[in-house]
Amino acid sequence: MIYDDHAKRYDKIMAPLERAFLSRWRKDTLSHLPKNARILEVGAGTGLNFVHYPDSAHAVASELAIQMIEIAKEKRSPISLLQADAEMLPFVDGYFDAAFATLVFCSIPDPEKAFKELKRVLKDDGKVILLEHVRPTGMLGYLFDVLNVFTVALMEDHFNRETAKIADAAGLKVVEVKTKALGIVNLIICEV
Ligand SMILES: C[S@@+](CC[C@H](N)C(=O)[O-])C[C@H]1O[C@@H](n2cnc3c(N)ncnc32)[C@H](O)[C@@H]1O
Repeated sequence: MIYDDHAKRYDKIMAPLERAFLSRWRKDTLSHLPKNARILEVGAGTGLNFVHYPDSAHAVASELAIQMIEIAKEKRSPISLLQADAEMLPFVDGYFDAAFATLVFCSIPDPEKAFKELKRVLKDDGKVILLEHVRPTGMLGYLFDVLNVFTVALMEDHFNRETAKIADAAGLKVVEVKTKALGIVNLIICEV
């Protein structure tokens, strides 16, 4: 998987973005999670969200690329860390209170399938919180359609996904979409 190749460089590449705005956005995103609950992160990468986790009854960080997990392991231990495909989660139905992902649904091959999996492993009153780059509206959207051809080929990264619409199509209730950076980034809050 492409993120196995990027793992060693990932934190260094992200560092300027983290300093400029991303770390703040991560903190804001995770502030929507319930406290002392069972929390699942999908596509946890190298664990850049770990410092922002709320106090949890049980927090599980899942990630597909084993090399990303190796880097994440160095960051913080109280979180259970495991290899799992977001399209096929190894959890029983209705186990978690909330799930979240940051910058992940752009690279999952079948995002609708992954949203259906999140819905399955969440309780009936569960929440899904997402921070994702998406296809912006207006003229910028067409530019992202063009960019998408290259980003998919080079990085398996989809630059024109309409992630809130995909979540809705998968049966989640999208209750709020906050736009950031000219609508290129969305904070999306869903309920089961
Ligand atoms: C851009 S990185 C984001 C990592 C981390 N969430 C962050 O915010 O820094 C995308 C991550 O999604 C993971 N990913 C892609 N497809 C996945 C899948 N089907 N299941 C689980 N993780 C996946 C990649 O391995 C990679 O670590």
